[in-house]
Amino acid sequence: MKVLIIGSGGREHALAWKSSQDENVSEVFVSPGNAGTALESKTSNINLDLDNFESIKNFCKEQDIKLVIIGPEQPLVQGLSDYLSNHDINSFGPSKGAAQLEGSKTFSKDFFTKYGIPTASYASFDNFKDAHNYLRKINYPTVVKADGLAAGKGVIICQNEIEAEDALVSIFKDNAFGNAGSRVVIEDFLEGEEASFIAVVSKDKIIPLATSQDHKAISDGDIGLNTGGMGAYSPAPIVTEELEKKIMDEVMVPTVNGLIAEKFPYLGFLYAGLMIKDNDIKVLEFNCRFGDPETQPILFRLESSLVKLCLSAINDDLDAYQIKWNEKHSCGVVIASNGYPESYESNKEVNIEEYEDTEIKLFHAGTKMQDDKIFTNGGRVFCATALGNDLKEAQEKAYNLVGKVNFDGAYFRKDIGYKGIK
Ligand code: AMP
Ligand code: GLY
Repeated sequence: MKVLIIGSGGREHALAWKSSQDENVSEVFVSPGNAGTALESKTSNINLDLDNFESIKNFCKEQDIKLVIIGPEQPLVQGLSDYLSNHDINSFGPSKGAAQLEGSKTFSKDFFTKYGIPTASYASFDNFKDAHNYLRKINYPTVVKADGLAAGKGVIICQNEIEAEDALVSIFKDNAFGNAGSRVVIEDFLEGEEASFIAVVSKDKIIPLATSQDHKAISDGDIGLNTGGMGAYSPAPIVTEELEKKIMDEVMVPTVNGLIAEKFPYLGFLYAGLMIKDNDIKVLEFNCRFGDPETQPILFRLESSLVKLCLSAINDDLDAYQIKWNEKHSCGVVIASNGYPESYESNKEVNIEEYEDTEIKLFHAGTKMQDDKIFTNGGRVFCATALGNDLKEAQEKAYNLVGKVNFDGAYFRKDIGYKGIK
């Protein structure tokens, strides 16, 4: 069987690597992929025009692709999954309607209110004047969010009214996020610890994946600018069995049922970004996809077949799937280009020391092959991932792997996993 993965990040390398290990899979294509997916066994990169759905469909038909897994949010929000399913191609990812849960903060916040899903209080505005007036009525810190997709940069935490005003000016007047900023959500600042709760969903069936936690901030100690994620680990000790049950009851079940009621039944990875404080949970956001870098440490622990899991979901047969996890802990440390998440340089040659340990894996993200050499090609470049008997050991092994990677301007946090260890 042949599989196509859409995307080019560390998440997609992990999805491709895991798919390629399936004995029923003969070939994995990744579009556009990276140097890591180019080097993976049974796997090759293919440069499809991701804006041209017809060309993707034609490729799937020519190659007799039996499963497409769509990694990033953009093609999902644009309706790629609907298009492929309508052409009888097995596509794992939510419809355009369901993907609004990530594609529009106003949609998701209104949805939370309608279905009683716990979240921060908020108001939504489509113009500067009303949003600005509102700033006088609220407490600080507050959070200003661009409504649409902004690659993780559209959330601004404001300590006072002046900062909030600046945020509104940059969104409404300077158009910092283009169309994604045509509306804003202003919501209460929540304190606590964040966790990522990711599940595979098919209509009302939910298989929770192993729990995980991400480190979003650029600097050690979780300070500095927000990024797409600088490292993650699984399991997340904060999500106890009792809390997991609460998350299922208060968040996941009402969400998938609400989506069915809205006529957007969900299919795909569903990711709840949660704030947890004293066993109280609030949803910060939903993503309509697997997390990056959470995918890397989570899939490194998955022992059962990913391809079978996706196909069971597509065929409405999730009840029959037995998910199996490695009991070990995993930790993934992102190696980024210096300057990320702001401007950074690319095209740096990378040297990687060889390793044989099957409990460590260097997932590529922003890399490319040129003349048989590997070059950097993005902000987040690698995710060094390892298994260990406990999180501490997984962390040590992941950092050991980080030490085998060299390129000019490599930057990584030194404390990934500390929240789980403390
Ligand atoms: P989002 O894209 O909505 O998940 O926001 C990105 C990040 O901003 C989250 O992972 C949090 O670290 C932070 N954040 C978002 N909303 C809030 C909030 N209401 N209170 C505190 N932090 C928040
Ligand atoms: N790691 C956070 C995300 O994938 O959005």
